[in-house]
Amino acid sequence: MPPERLQKLIARAGIASRRAAEQLILDGEVTVNGRVVLELGSKADPASDHIKVRGKLLLFTTSPVYVMLNKPAGYVTTMKDPQGRPTVVDLLRGIRGRVFPVGRLDFDTEGLLLFTNDGALARELMHPSRRVPKIYAAKVTGKLTDEEIAKLEAGGMVLETGRTAPCRVRRVRESGQSSWVEVTLHEGKKRQVRLMLERLGHPVSKLIRTQYAGLVLGELSLGKSRLLTAAEVRRLQVAAQGRPEAPPASGAAPARRPPVRTAAPVPGRRVRGRLLVPFNKKAVRR
Ligand code: URA
Repeated sequence: MPPERLQKLIARAGIASRRAAEQLILDGEVTVNGRVVLELGSKADPASDHIKVRGKLLLFTTSPVYVMLNKPAGYVTTMKDPQGRPTVVDLLRGIRGRVFPVGRLDFDTEGLLLFTNDGALARELMHPSRRVPKIYAAKVTGKLTDEEIAKLEAGGMVLETGRTAPCRVRRVRESGQSSWVEVTLHEGKKRQVRLMLERLGHPVSKLIRTQYAGLVLGELSLGKSRLLTAAEVRRLQVAAQGRPEAPPASGAAPARRPPVRTAAPVPGRRVRGRLLVPFNKKAVRR
């Protein structure tokens, strides 16, 4: 492998953003083959050099892998469960290399869960400032009134994990004593959809994530996984920059989202102190 700038390698390993990686270098926290490196321009070869951050060896895979799983209920989103319950990793068959979930779905939640070994992209996608859209279909007890929908959409509901941001809620269908609603979030607080709906007296009996950053499950059966297409990876890279959505890669109708309050960022520019990751052609599988 050709040598690359240390801060880029540290970011790719998912340890820190490039900017934070620069600070780690300046702070003397980074060693290459046992020697402290303080120069920001320094390069290293991830294939042959031992790069350590705070004494921890960075591990690199040769090529990035991006996977979509249609998660069934009854699986924990973790690499290993101390209680011995089935984990989402048990469902990944035929995937080369070690991949990690991008965010999490509850034990009882079904639907679209991404995995990757591209730590830098995963970090950006999960960062709240990126406002990556996630769409959930929720089966609830009863039917939401217009006032309840307006309350949810306005945000400001206080959960244990903080105040909710504005979101979008749409009635989908009614079935007897229950109904289905579609909730579009641009954040990811723990058990957020369940807690928000429960708070208004509509406990959730089934929850399915149907979209993530505009990616859809399509024909993927429950419990199955597949590699992302190049178009889907590009879409994630755009979403990771916090840009407004383009039409979905698979042809599904785009979700309407609340207006983005910041100007569309230019890749590679700093916005509020964060370096926006430039489009990375190498990461796209063809
Ligand atoms: N909101 C929830 O309540 N649960 C999930 O798994 C995801 C979002």
